[in-house]
Amino acid sequence: MKTVAALLAVGLMACGGSKSADSKSTGKVSAIEAMGITPPDSPWEEMSVEDREFYMIGKVNPIMKELFAGYDAEEFGDFDCVHCHGEEMREIDFKMPAPSMYIVPPEGTPGHRGMLSTFPDEVKFMQEVVTPSMAKLLGIENFSCAGCHPSAPPKKKPAKPKR
Ligand code: HEC
Ligand code: HEC
Repeated sequence: MKTVAALLAVGLMACGGSKSADSKSTGKVSAIEAMGITPPDSPWEEMSVEDREFYMIGKVNPIMKELFAGYDAEEFGDFDCVHCHGEEMREIDFKMPAPSMYIVPPEGTPGHRGMLSTFPDEVKFMQEVVTPSMAKLLGIENFSCAGCHPSAPPKKKPAKPKR
């Protein structure tokens, strides 16, 4: 786990870490151009948790950061693991979907229609960019909103760690 922790530290630093001074980091190379939105070398299902973490740090996070920042640079300038995995990510071992994520109600329900009218642009971005890109990055064919968002509230509210 030591290597993973070290890599994580590097990964976080490489992504700018804190909120400040991110937009014009030194000689930015496009992660999308450099690595491509492509599947992992070995199937995701067969990867160890450590390999998965490494893949997230080295590829998924930088590429997704670029996509989210391209959508809304101001809101997602500091995009990182926590945006998908939630504040409690370490306590729950990066289990997805993170219970603290926005709940995407099942299609056809009033809740789903409510989401469409409240977040039309977000949903479009999620449908057209985020979901298909994540599917490609994981090499998982029928990856859906539910891979990242809960579709119902948790039965028992998980204790949220205070920061
Ligand atoms: C764009 C969303 C997104 C971002 C950003 C992201 N992840 Fe993930 N991560 C996922 C999804 C989705 C899965 C689960 C995939 C699956 O198995 O269905 C996952 C799985 C994982 C797993 C494997 C968990 C397990 O038990 O199999 C680890 C570890 C992980 N992520 C760590 C990280 C770290 C560390 C970062 C930041 C460097 C990060 N992730 C950034 C979406 C994301
Ligand atoms: C790879 C992970 C991932 C997938 C798949 C995904 N989303 Fe998201 N979604 C996110 C992240 C990350 C955010 C931003 C969260 C934040 O602002 O902290 C988000 C935000 C949203 C928001 C805005 C919520 C708010 O409170 O501002 C909506 C609505 C949404 N997603 C709907 C969807 C729908 C519908 C789908 C399926 C078509 C989907 N998402 C698929 C990761 C994902």
